[in-house]
Amino acid sequence: MSETGVARDLMRSAEIKQIVRSAYAAVDGSSETVARNLYSPEELARMPQTAIEGALGVGNHLRHARIDPGETLLDLGCGAGIDTILAARRTGPDGRVIALDFLPEMLERTKTAAAEAGLPNVEPVEADIEAIPLADDSVDHVISNGVINLAPRKARVLAECARVLRPDGKLTVADLTVTEEELPTEILAHPATWAG
Ligand SMILES: C[S@@+](CC[C@H](N)C(=O)[O-])C[C@H]1O[C@@H](n2cnc3c(N)ncnc32)[C@H](O)[C@@H]1O
Repeated sequence: MSETGVARDLMRSAEIKQIVRSAYAAVDGSSETVARNLYSPEELARMPQTAIEGALGVGNHLRHARIDPGETLLDLGCGAGIDTILAARRTGPDGRVIALDFLPEMLERTKTAAAEAGLPNVEPVEADIEAIPLADDSVDHVISNGVINLAPRKARVLAECARVLRPDGKLTVADLTVTEEELPTEILAHPATWAG
């Protein structure tokens, strides 16, 4: 890509991120529908209400994840913290979950939920998934639910996951994919499509 092309792409990238930020900052977190559809009654039984009402994921990937006690886990785009809480219970007190989101209001919800759940092993981090502020090889397991699809530079996110994961580390992701053949261009390029 030419230098002008790169500059234009980065401008578009900033614009997309702003659309996503505004959309998620406006989510009021007052519906249980997503959580009730994705998680079992057992998983929700001891879950703080803030996390249940703020669930915005697209799947229940943790059901398929092997999470070992003592692991350092990174939840990309933690939102209100439902997967962070489930994972932090499974790492146990010898492990921890770094809950990363670029919206302070989402991190506040995760903090509240972790405190209510009595989990001191949750560490909220405000950052962009395209520039993860963690050292190379510092994480055992990266999880993410409905977030990578929102990033304008998905390859960059995956490169960051590969960088922070230790050799033989694990990546467990639930996400959405779409191909150009599935939707008309005007829908694909619409701001609501990116944020949704
Ligand atoms: C669809 S919600 C999913 C939240 C959570 N994973 C869940 O399952 O409930 C997407 C979350 O990702 C965050 N997010 C979106 N793009 C991001 C980015 N580039 N960097 C960090 N967080 C991002 C949003 O603020 C929001 O909290």
